[in-house]
Amino acid sequence: MKTILVTGGSGFIGSHTCLALLDFGYNLVVLDSYINSSVIALKRVIGLSKTQKQSAQNTLHEVRGDIRDYKLLSKVFVEAIKNNAPIEAVIHFAGLKSVEESVREPLLYWNVNVEGSRNLFRVMDENNCRTIVFSSSATIYASSTDNLLTEASELKPCNPYGKTKLAVEELLRDLFENSENNWRIANLRYFNPVGAHSSGEIGESPLEKPNNLFPYICQVAIGSRKQLQIYGSDWPTPDGTGIRDYIHVMDLAEAHSAALEYLFSKQSKLLNLNIGTGKGTSVLELVKTFEKVNGCKVPYVFSARRLGDVSKTVANNQLSIRTLAWEPSRSLSDICRDGWRWQMLNPFGYSERTH
Ligand code: NAD
Ligand code: UD1
Repeated sequence: MKTILVTGGSGFIGSHTCLALLDFGYNLVVLDSYINSSVIALKRVIGLSKTQKQSAQNTLHEVRGDIRDYKLLSKVFVEAIKNNAPIEAVIHFAGLKSVEESVREPLLYWNVNVEGSRNLFRVMDENNCRTIVFSSSATIYASSTDNLLTEASELKPCNPYGKTKLAVEELLRDLFENSENNWRIANLRYFNPVGAHSSGEIGESPLEKPNNLFPYICQVAIGSRKQLQIYGSDWPTPDGTGIRDYIHVMDLAEAHSAALEYLFSKQSKLLNLNIGTGKGTSVLELVKTFEKVNGCKVPYVFSARRLGDVSKTVANNQLSIRTLAWEPSRSLSDICRDGWRWQMLNPFGYSERTH
């Protein structure tokens, strides 16, 4: 049974992926600073994993720490070797992800996202672990056109957050092309991850006012926010609102175990893959589907376009489907139903049960 290091594994995508990895049969070491997550998430992951698979023997070991801490990271790798469970691959989620904050604090974003990643790759290399799945983002593409984005589309991030994601991809390419050793690398470029595990036990728990559409809709539907502001009604789309590619977080989680399996079957590889559904949904379509599936109201008003927004971002996901033998299977209705179940069961996210 292989041991995988998951950085940032207690966060939104990380916690869902840990569940998928445990159920797949991996042992996990999860390193997280908890700067943007709760200690409750992984406790629930362990509980869910046992319920889903009565015989689950897999372990999840948590380490509180920062990816910029060289000594700590080295210790994690060395101890795993001592325990006869060497870390064979890393899934690297840890980082900061707010576009708006990155514009205000570019030094912080380059430090955590780029310097933190460089530190991690250095320790991996020193410990002969050269297999990595990295959380990249569709935000690295140049402003989209009407076409679906392929992995060969132009790369031109327009904010510091996106630039740090591209910088890490470039660093990984340098390692792949120039190292004497074989690296196996998958840069997964996520589109819009939303929803929650179908149990409603784990989900997205924004610590502050959400910037993204889906958690905002959930908070309006439950009454913690008065109304949704729809940013622009005059986009060049059929109903005038922005179009995105919303992917269920469990479909995204499963793409990580598929990517690991693929990398383990190769000697050396560098992969860039779009992880999306290939289907575009407008803001109004998402609101209407949410209302219909859950029998609730999401009051909204139209407001001005948000700075930096684009009209449409949708993945061409054919390369992922072909390469990984993976395919998103959950619908927009599943996303709305599961996201709402999480919100209803946890109106204040994870924070409710800690106070
Ligand atoms: P998240 O904030 O919920 O999870 C990130 C986790 O990393 C958190 O648990 C946080 O505490 C931890 N972390 C942050 N800085 C750290 C550090 N220096 N050392 C150790 N741990 C640290 O975010 P998420 O939505 O789960 O995103 C996971 C990854 O996917 C991020 O790298 C993000 O940039 C990327 N991504 C997210 C989205 C999205 O829409 N959520 C889209 C594209 C890419
Ligand atoms: C945002 C980030 C992007 C990041 C992605 C996933 C910006 C400019 N871009 O993209 O870098 O990769 O999240 O984390 O922040 N909307 C509303 N009202 C709201 C919120 C959003 O109408 O309150 C609209 C937006 O205009 C957009 C759609 O909903 O059309 C989706 O927005 P959002 O969830 O923020 O995702 P992205 O814009 O794709």
